[in-house]
Amino acid sequence: MQKVLLFFILLAFGSCSNYGSVTPRKITIGFSQCTTQDEWRKTMIQEMRRETGFHPNYEIELIITDANDDNEKQIRDIRELMRGKLDLLIVSPNEAAPLTPIVEEVYDSGVPVIVIDRRIESEKFTSYIGGDNFIIGKEAALFASQLLKGKGKVLEVTGLAGSTPALERSFGFLDGLKEFPDIKVVRTVRGAWLKERTQAILDTILYSWSDFDLIYAHNDQMAYGAFLSAKKHNLKPYIIGVDGLHTSGHGIDMVLSGNIDGTFLYPTGGDKALDLALKILDGKPYSKFNYLQTIKIDYNNARAFKLQAAQLIDQQQKIDYQRKELGTMAFLLKKKEMLFILFTIISGLLSLLVIMSVCLIFQKNKANRAIDMKRKTIQDKNERITKQRDKLIQTLRVAEEATEAKIKFFTNVSHEIRTVLSLISFPVNQLSSDGGEFSEGKLQVLKKSVGRLLNLSNEILSFRGTNYNIKCRTSNLGACIGSIVSAFEQKALEKGLVLDTRIPSELEAYFDPSVIEKVLFNLLSNAIKYTPHGGKVEVKAVVVGGTITISISDSGIGISDEELPLIFDRFYRGNSNTTSNGESGTGIGLNFTRELIQLHGGEIKVESRENMGSVFTLYLPQENGYSRRVEKVENERNGIDELQKDLIKVNNKKKLLLVEDIEELRIFMSQMLMKHYVVITAKNGVEGFELANKCHPDIIVSDILMPEKDGIALCFDLKNNPSTFLIPVILLTAMESENSYIRSFETGADGYLTKPCNETTLLARINNLIESRERLKHEYGKTLFSLKDLKTKDKGDEAFVKNCLEEIYKEISDPNFNLIHLSRAVGMSRSSLYRKIKEVTGLKAVDFMRKARLQYAAKLLINCDMTVYEIAWQSGFSDVKYFSKLFLKEFGNLPKKFKDHSRHESVLP
Ligand code: FRU
Repeated sequence: MQKVLLFFILLAFGSCSNYGSVTPRKITIGFSQCTTQDEWRKTMIQEMRRETGFHPNYEIELIITDANDDNEKQIRDIRELMRGKLDLLIVSPNEAAPLTPIVEEVYDSGVPVIVIDRRIESEKFTSYIGGDNFIIGKEAALFASQLLKGKGKVLEVTGLAGSTPALERSFGFLDGLKEFPDIKVVRTVRGAWLKERTQAILDTILYSWSDFDLIYAHNDQMAYGAFLSAKKHNLKPYIIGVDGLHTSGHGIDMVLSGNIDGTFLYPTGGDKALDLALKILDGKPYSKFNYLQTIKIDYNNARAFKLQAAQLIDQQQKIDYQRKELGTMAFLLKKKEMLFILFTIISGLLSLLVIMSVCLIFQKNKANRAIDMKRKTIQDKNERITKQRDKLIQTLRVAEEATEAKIKFFTNVSHEIRTVLSLISFPVNQLSSDGGEFSEGKLQVLKKSVGRLLNLSNEILSFRGTNYNIKCRTSNLGACIGSIVSAFEQKALEKGLVLDTRIPSELEAYFDPSVIEKVLFNLLSNAIKYTPHGGKVEVKAVVVGGTITISISDSGIGISDEELPLIFDRFYRGNSNTTSNGESGTGIGLNFTRELIQLHGGEIKVESRENMGSVFTLYLPQENGYSRRVEKVENERNGIDELQKDLIKVNNKKKLLLVEDIEELRIFMSQMLMKHYVVITAKNGVEGFELANKCHPDIIVSDILMPEKDGIALCFDLKNNPSTFLIPVILLTAMESENSYIRSFETGADGYLTKPCNETTLLARINNLIESRERLKHEYGKTLFSLKDLKTKDKGDEAFVKNCLEEIYKEISDPNFNLIHLSRAVGMSRSSLYRKIKEVTGLKAVDFMRKARLQYAAKLLINCDMTVYEIAWQSGFSDVKYFSKLFLKEFGNLPKKFKDHSRHESVLP
């Protein structure tokens, strides 16, 4: 790219330099004229200027100064010219002597000097050019002799005395007259080259003197002045002049008009002088003295000269015109050249742009190709990643679904087991506490329940628990292990195995017997299972440094090296672990075993060699060093004993709504509860909600897993219904793990009980809740809004208040929801709404609304684990301080205190 740019720059410069080769060389020529006033000098300058146009290789600057016939001025002019750095000086000195030094000085300085027309006194100049004035004088003498026919008197009018032409023309004339002795110069008048001066002098002289026959004037101007003066004095002498200018009214015309008799051509040499100057500057050969030809012009040849001169003038005019035209053309040419250069540059730049564009397009295409390739690579990668991600998502989904299915399965099965156990526990409890009899019904329930339990246990066999709480106590671990081992003695005997134990009889430790039981049961059953007939199984227990080590070793089939690292993995089912009888493990035991041991704060390790046997070793801390999941259980029963004492003392029976889908359980529970409460029953959540709205029970006890509407949905609806939200609800959950699951729904339930629940516990919970709610009502009852407190017991009024409250609760969290919105929502005019509220509740509409919000807040404070700030916002109060102030006024307590109080009084587990 840079190379292309350089090419065009050179091309542009090349064009300029071509143009430069025709550019003329610049030279400066100074021309110091003694005068420029007369026609002869003007002609000289004109010729010189014209000549400059004939040398296209030069751009000549011609600087002309006019000394005005003044020597001093001419010296100054020359100095001034020299200051401007001349290439060459042309000088026509006014007088020879005064101008000689300055001309020499210039010459000495190295600047070439051409002396023209008049000379200096030395030869210190480069070249001289001019007419031969001595010859002119001689020719003039010859012409005078012809006019005078060899005899006569001459009046000579001389040029400036100090100028060389004047001297030479005089000498030449006198020299010429030597051949004509009868012709004498009788008088000399100094005309100093000037017409007026000559005329003036002669005017004076001719008054008193006219004894002459011919006037010889050194130039035509003075000759004309003499003519005028002679004419004035009626004299008609012959008159001869010098110069012979062809221009109008001058030399030749004067001859033709008869004013003078003849003149001598004295060429100005202007053109020749310039030509000579260029030769000198070019270093071409030239002559030091260049004399110009002269010729006599008299009446006989004057006309021919005039015609020739006219032609010359014509030609010169044409030349001038052509020069002008040439100048114009040169200008146009220059312009064209400039345009050409511009065009070249622009074309160059355009070409450059085109080349650059092509290059750029090429590069862009290349880059695009690279980008496309990259994009394709990225796309491929993306596709791969997307596929992997989709696969992963799919896997996760499958895993999630599997997990969910498992959770659901365990939840359901556990619920069922609890349910069945409840069925068993209630009749058993009744039989043991009341000394009741075995009835056929009760036996049927027990029989059915056992059958159901068997089915459930079959279902659960392929699964294991996912959540386990360790419950430790200090006990004799040795005895515990011994009893477990003894359970396998019969089995070992049957299989012909030696079952050896080395366990200390007294080994006090802090442990969960059920965990030890499960773990040892699993390990021992595996050891016996995988040890062939005649083999040996040994159980040892030792205590070293606070750690109990229990090992179960066998001489069985062992585990391969490949499988050994996998045996504790979840769902791992060994391939080679097939017994001699073809039995295989369930695969669930070892992973669960390890989890239990880890939960217990211990560790399990295995060593095994194929066909040699295996050793499973458990390491357990002897004292309490277990994880936070371990609970102390020593005083587990204390709480229940306390509750036992507080059993219900109510004579005045409260209303209890029992919601349970399993008929047997519903009947049993009703029978049990009927002693203390008026029991209303419902089969599911839908029925339960309807009955709650209709009967306004004092408490609701509901199962969770039910068809149509489960306990969670029922509780949610009850707590979001203005007429039921204050009724306490107890949910019966199937298992502990389900508790957290249920709580995550934030149902707002007031209590949870795990099935199968002890009758005493259930009654205590129910009673406690009713009592605390009673206390709350007693304390806040005046202010808590209740449909029971309506001024009228009209069903329509009740529906109206309920409708209003429902509409308010729909938008409760919007602080901007006001009575205008409420009137729109219930489809009443504002005034009607105000009036009706006042009529039904005795409250102003605005107070009714505020009360509804505050009651909602109170409900949240009682039922939810939210901060006061959150509750204020939730109830439509944007200013918490204002909310607290209103709440204090309404309930006599600040929200925080109210919450603490209600919680304290409540029996929320
Ligand atoms: C002009 C002139 C001419 C004459 C010449 C002599 O100034 O007077 O008429 O021939 O100078 O130098």
